[in-house]
Amino acid sequence: MTNNNVLIFDTTLRDGEQSPGATMTHSEKLEIAELLDEMGVDIIEAGFPIASEGDFNAVSDIAKRAENATICGLARANYKDIDRCWEAVQHAKSPRIHTFIGTSELHRAIPNLTMDEMAERIHDTVTHARNLCDNVQWSPMDATRTEWDYLCRVVEIAIKAGASTINIPDTVGYTAPIESADLIRRLIATVPGADEVIFATHCHNDLGMATANSLAAVEGGARQIECTINGLGERAGNTALEEVVMALKVRGDIMPYTTKIDTTKIMNISRRVATVSGFAVQFNKAIVGKNAFAHESGIHQDGMLKNKETFEIMRPEDVGLAGTSLPLGKHSGRAALRAKLEELGLDLADNQLKELFVRFKDLADRKKEVFDDDILALVHQNAGAEDKLKLVSLRVTCGTDGPQTADMTLEIDGTAQSTTATGDGPVDATFNAVKALFAHGARLQLYQVSAVTEGTDAQATVSVRMEEDGRITTGQSADTDTVVASAKAYINALNRLMVRREHSEPGYDTKGVSYKDAT
Ligand code: KIV
Ligand code: ZN
Repeated sequence: MTNNNVLIFDTTLRDGEQSPGATMTHSEKLEIAELLDEMGVDIIEAGFPIASEGDFNAVSDIAKRAENATICGLARANYKDIDRCWEAVQHAKSPRIHTFIGTSELHRAIPNLTMDEMAERIHDTVTHARNLCDNVQWSPMDATRTEWDYLCRVVEIAIKAGASTINIPDTVGYTAPIESADLIRRLIATVPGADEVIFATHCHNDLGMATANSLAAVEGGARQIECTINGLGERAGNTALEEVVMALKVRGDIMPYTTKIDTTKIMNISRRVATVSGFAVQFNKAIVGKNAFAHESGIHQDGMLKNKETFEIMRPEDVGLAGTSLPLGKHSGRAALRAKLEELGLDLADNQLKELFVRFKDLADRKKEVFDDDILALVHQNAGAEDKLKLVSLRVTCGTDGPQTADMTLEIDGTAQSTTATGDGPVDATFNAVKALFAHGARLQLYQVSAVTEGTDAQATVSVRMEEDGRITTGQSADTDTVVASAKAYINALNRLMVRREHSEPGYDTKGVSYKDAT
C-alpha cells in the first residue's frame, strides 16, 4: 500500500443497520456484502456478533463468502464479546476484530470506571483480541470529546497491546474539519508507535460535516475512512461512502489520495441499500440523489448542450448512471429486457429473468413507456417466495360519495382468505382489510409515496415503517396503482416483521444491545 492509498471501511451492515427501522434480512445482508466486496471496499464491518443470533450468522456467512475484503465484526471491551466476534469472523480469508470502549468523561461514567481501570481494561481486551486474531482495530468511542492527555495514553496502550488500526470516532458528530485534521496529526506526532499503525476516521453527520471531517482527517494523516452507503446510520447518519470516494476522485488535484473503489458500481448499491433498508435517498443528495445529475433550468440546459463541463464536475457514467437510453415498451422481448439489465449493471440468473419478464409484461401493458427506473423498481420488489402473506386481489371503491371500501383476498400460509373493510380513504380501508384478515398489533409509523418516473401513468413507490414491541420494520413496493403499491408495501413490512419476531425478543434486537454493558 502506498502512503496515499486510503482504505475504505464500510459499516453499512453495522452502524448503518443500527438506524431504527433499517434492519435487513439475512439474505439482504449477504447481497449487500457481496456488492461491497465487488466494488472494492477494503474492509466490511459485517455486524455486531454478540448482539443476536441473526447478527452472528450474518457476520459468519459473510466471512465465509467474501472474496477480497477483510471482514470485521464489532465487539465491546469484554472477553465474551471478543470471543463471539472471533467465532464469527475467523472463517474469513482476512478477518479483523474491532473492539471499542467509550473514553470521554461522559462515557467513562457509564460503566463507572476510573481512568486507570479503563486503561487496564483496554490493555487486557486488546491483548485478548490480538491473541485470537492478527488484525485488531481499536476505537476510543467519543474520541473527539475525550481529554487529550487521556486519549494519547489509551491510544498508546492499544498500540502496545497489538492493535494495528486505531480508529478515532466522532461519535456524536461534534468535530469540525480543522479540528478533525489537527487531532489525527497531533496523535500521530505525539503517541509513541503511532507511525507503525493505520489511523482511521469515523464521523457522524449531526452537524452535516461528516464528509468534510473525514476528508480533513485524511489530510491530517488518517488512511482509513469509515463510512456507509447513502450515509445510512443512526440519527443524521455516518459519512457517505459515495461522497468521500467521489470527492477524492474528482479533486485529486488538491487531495492526492486514491481508493480501490470501482465508482461505476455506486448507483446500483445505493439503490439496493435504499430499498432493503427502507431509507429512501433524498432527491438532492450528493452523488446518488435523483437530481444529482439533472439539469432543469433553461440556463443550465443550454450550457449543458454546448459543453457538459459547464455544469458537470463528474460524468454520470462515473457513478454507474447509464446515459439516457430508450425506454422499453409492450413490444419489447426478453432479449431487450436482458440487454437493458446488462446496461444497468444487473446480472440476473435465467429463472430470475423469466420471473421478471412476466412482471415486466404486466407493467408494460399498463404503462406506455417503461423507463430504467421502472425496471429497477421491478427488480427490487421485495416479495419473496417464502412470504407468509401474499396479496391475491384488491378492489377499492373511493371518491367523493363514500364509503371507501376495500375488497381483498390474501393468501395466508398458502390459504386464500377474503374480506371487505371500510376506512377513512382508500389506503386506510386497504390497511384495515389486511388487519381484518391478519390481526396484528403493529403500529404504522410512516407512510410515504413517491413517483418512480414522470407522467400520470408513473409507478408509485410506497414506503411504510411499522413498530411492534420495540421492533421496527420497513416495507416497500411499487405499482402504477398507488393503492396496490400501498397494500403490497404494508404486507411486505408485516412479512419482515414476522421474520423479526422469530429472530429477536420484544424490544431486544441488534439495536437493543447496549454499548453500556461493556463488561
Ligand atoms: O460512532 C462510534 O463511536 C461507533 C463506534 C462503535 C466505533 O460506531
Ligand atoms: Zn458510529
